[in-house]
Amino acid sequence: MKTKLSDFPLKIAIPKGRLQKKVEELFSKSNISFEFEERRLIAVNKEKNLKFLLVKNSDLPTYVSHGIAGLGICGDDVIYESGEEFYRLMTFDFGGTDICIAAKKGETPVSKIRHLEVATKFTKYTRDYFNNQGKSVQIIKLNGSVELAPVLGLAPYIVDLVETGTTLKAHNLEIQEKIARTKVHLIANPGYYKLYYKRINELISILKK
Ligand code: PRP
Repeated sequence: MKTKLSDFPLKIAIPKGRLQKKVEELFSKSNISFEFEERRLIAVNKEKNLKFLLVKNSDLPTYVSHGIAGLGICGDDVIYESGEEFYRLMTFDFGGTDICIAAKKGETPVSKIRHLEVATKFTKYTRDYFNNQGKSVQIIKLNGSVELAPVLGLAPYIVDLVETGTTLKAHNLEIQEKIARTKVHLIANPGYYKLYYKRINELISILKK
């Protein structure tokens, strides 16, 4: 007997960290429950034939672009950084943040500096942003705790996400410029969407209810 496409579970990558809880709430509001048991990174919802993969936020586009998870939930910042093309099928009202340039209080405004040193997780975004303004930029790549860079003298400026502003405040840093607002989306691998669009659209209509 042939296996039908509908027999395969839809695979959805979920980001670890601050978005994870909100994504779990989103599904649970739609009566789609799943649970990552202790240290397990894969969870299933048998009723809807869904498989959830718990991955590091910045790795999420890799799983989706390789079609390992055909769907994923992540922000514009992470999508841009990946350089990959995805369908953005749904935009959520949670998880939006500002991408900002920040520095120590009283630091020279970036607008007055032609060659900048910037620490960030978002190297591609930051390079493109400053190069588009005709500025050269030396980027120091960090994977987290970016606010430490100006405090410890690694780089005077950072480009980072600001949600509540608490982390900046706690380190005596301030926003110099808000560059962009990022939103969180349900993304799809375009090829995967073409194969499974009926089931994906059904899932979207359940999530939208
Ligand atoms: C993000 C971001 C800031 C912080 C901002 O980091 O990079 O560090 O949140 O949030 P706030 O404005 O509410 O204080 P995250 O917590 O995701 O962890 P990371 O430092 O490992 O990147």
